[in-house]
Amino acid sequence: MSALFQPLTLRDVTIPNRVWMPPMCQYSAAPEGPLTGAPGDWHFSHYTARATGGTGLIVVEATGVSPQGRISPYDLGLWNDTQVEAFRRITRFLASQGTVPAVQLAHAGRKASTDRTWTGGAPLGPDAYGWQPLAPSALAFDAGHPVPTELTTGQIAEIVGEFADAARRALAAGFEIVEIHGAHGYLIHEFLSPHSNHRTDAYGGSYENRTRFALEVVDAVRAVWPEEKPLFFRISATDWLDEGGWTPDDTVRFARDLQAHGVDLLDVSTGGNAPGVRIPTGPGYQVPFAARVKAETTLPVAAVGLITETEQAEKILANGEADAVLLGRELLRNPFWARHAARRLGEEVPVPDQYHRSM
Ligand SMILES: Cc1cc2nc3c(=O)[nH]c(=O)nc-3n(C[C@H](O)[C@H](O)[C@H](O)COP(=O)(O)O)c2cc1C
Repeated sequence: MSALFQPLTLRDVTIPNRVWMPPMCQYSAAPEGPLTGAPGDWHFSHYTARATGGTGLIVVEATGVSPQGRISPYDLGLWNDTQVEAFRRITRFLASQGTVPAVQLAHAGRKASTDRTWTGGAPLGPDAYGWQPLAPSALAFDAGHPVPTELTTGQIAEIVGEFADAARRALAAGFEIVEIHGAHGYLIHEFLSPHSNHRTDAYGGSYENRTRFALEVVDAVRAVWPEEKPLFFRISATDWLDEGGWTPDDTVRFARDLQAHGVDLLDVSTGGNAPGVRIPTGPGYQVPFAARVKAETTLPVAAVGLITETEQAEKILANGEADAVLLGRELLRNPFWARHAARRLGEEVPVPDQYHRSM
């Protein structure tokens, strides 16, 4: 039996295999009007194609818990009921194919209000649907980025509440799993890392203070998210800084804290909080960070980053380096990756009736 096609049960949810799709922004929602932040035809086609392709779990892209929390004005959101209804169409279809629907809830912090990546991703002003970003400290991400407004403790509490409200809506929208976006230099990561968090109050300074906001979000989401449904957390395991950043040691320690607060799986990415760092990319380059959390804690982990080949993915799981693999750009290239991998590994996976003649 292959490892890739073993089901995985977390709480009461069984994911049919270990080939998963990570969150990937499509920047394709309306930036204004009644359908702002609601998934449309592009999103339906994009996500449902990977479901018919046999992907075991799909994490829908970074979805803003508030308009200010979006990376771009074109992001999805879960701050109103129109958005909930629009998501239901996607989750219903994913469930009909046996794919578990998950959604990544996000606040972009100081990296909010930027353009779509394919037009350069530059910060946007109010003339182009932009807004003033918020962050733990008034430190710009990079040259050319605006200096964000430092959050008051009252505003921090409001954002914690927004994550909980968005999780309630995610449930109404039919999602089985919520992933909290704690990676890539967005708001939660900005609090975690001493590189971006220079606060001197209860939310900055010590490890306990820097992790406070993340754990408040986890607690608030866990309080409204049903006991029987899993909660994931995506982390950047390192800032790739020689000093003054979040480190793999911090990640291992924090994984234990997250598990104690009800997180069921750590989705292990890296980077995004410090521009200009050298990242040694290559096949499976982030797997060692997931493997370390797996080896040193009891929290299940998913590995991501340049995992593209069947044998490579199978080996990561068989070696016990991770409990699941996430394939991003490879699934953009090939929505049927899971079916091809199953065939290579001699596995029988259910095929949609409509495609039975392709067997
Ligand atoms: C188009 C695109 C959009 C992305 N959007 C998100 C996102 O919304 N949230 C997130 O955590 N990561 C995002 N990522 C990162 C991916 O989830 C993934 O971690 C990364 O692409 C590395 O995996 P890969 O080498 O298999 O593509 C995005 C990546 C791409 C290519």
